Amino acid sequence: MKKTTAKAPSNIAFIKYWGKADPKLRLPLSSSISMNLSNIYTITTVEFSKDLKEDKVEMDGGMIRQEEMTRVTKHLDRVRILAGIKLKARVKTKNNFPKGTGVASSASGFAALSLAASRAAGIKLSKRKLSVLARLGSGSACRSIPDGLVEWQKGIDSNSSYSYSLYPPKYWSLVDIVVMVDTKEKKVSSTEGHELAKESPFFTARVNGLRQKLKAIKKTMKNKNFEKFGEILEEETLNMHAVMMTSIPPLLYWQGKTIEIMQAIRNWRQEGLKSYFTIDAGPTVHIICLKKDVSSVKRKLAQISGIKMLIVNQMAKGAHFLNKHLF
Ligand code: PMV
Repeated sequence: MKKTTAKAPSNIAFIKYWGKADPKLRLPLSSSISMNLSNIYTITTVEFSKDLKEDKVEMDGGMIRQEEMTRVTKHLDRVRILAGIKLKARVKTKNNFPKGTGVASSASGFAALSLAASRAAGIKLSKRKLSVLARLGSGSACRSIPDGLVEWQKGIDSNSSYSYSLYPPKYWSLVDIVVMVDTKEKKVSSTEGHELAKESPFFTARVNGLRQKLKAIKKTMKNKNFEKFGEILEEETLNMHAVMMTSIPPLLYWQGKTIEIMQAIRNWRQEGLKSYFTIDAGPTVHIICLKKDVSSVKRKLAQISGIKMLIVNQMAKGAHFLNKHLF
């Protein structure tokens, strides 16, 4: 069996996935759109071997937590079934961002694992099948398989719920400046959060409006209408967080700094600096701007105290193989 290594980016959703139609299969209640990030990624090496009695998983130089181990082993089982093998695997995985910093790792992690493990098991999956496989490990991971700007079509069953590229990375000079305001791991994981989505009285209204919103944002991408695109981004973020805040029990992911930065971005726009925010299930603010405005945004951010880390990302390609292995 061939040792295989893959690299996969994390992604930021512009139209968010929040709420599942089928939690076991990780089928979403709505389609979503995202961009792959160039500077937040995972590299994973996998080798199946007859010398192993059990799966061995090492992450960032240490062993992983039991619940993470179970999730990885389950994913390896999916690959073993597809490949028709029983061998156990050695997995070594490395994130380029410090663990527990609140930067999502499950998307890049399961995308890299899906590509590396399937090839190491001797099977060559199409991008579509890889995306389906990654989705079973972590929903948003299916968007880290294709390149650039990506749509995850919700589908009607497991085989029809996958992601594809809308535009390649070079299409548009979008940048995501990730502004970390807290380095603690979030208390409520997105897996738990998805379960609560339907508890919000606003959830149905949100889902009903999404079709139109998907259409509208795609039009702004086609026309490269950045201002309209940004307006939809912010409206969508606030819409998803309104659902989070009104689920039972409510989820409040923002911190004081999160709101301070959201307000600052809106003020910068009044002054002519076109940047927009989007926020996932945590306090981290993603500032979306065009490449030409990155240094202006960074200058503005330098005036805000208490920011823990900045990561500047361009649009990236999806999961791909690397020749250099981690072991
Ligand atoms: O794939 P999960 O379970 O980590 O869920 C991702 C949820 C959000 O980040 C809030 C939205 C999204 O579409 O990425």
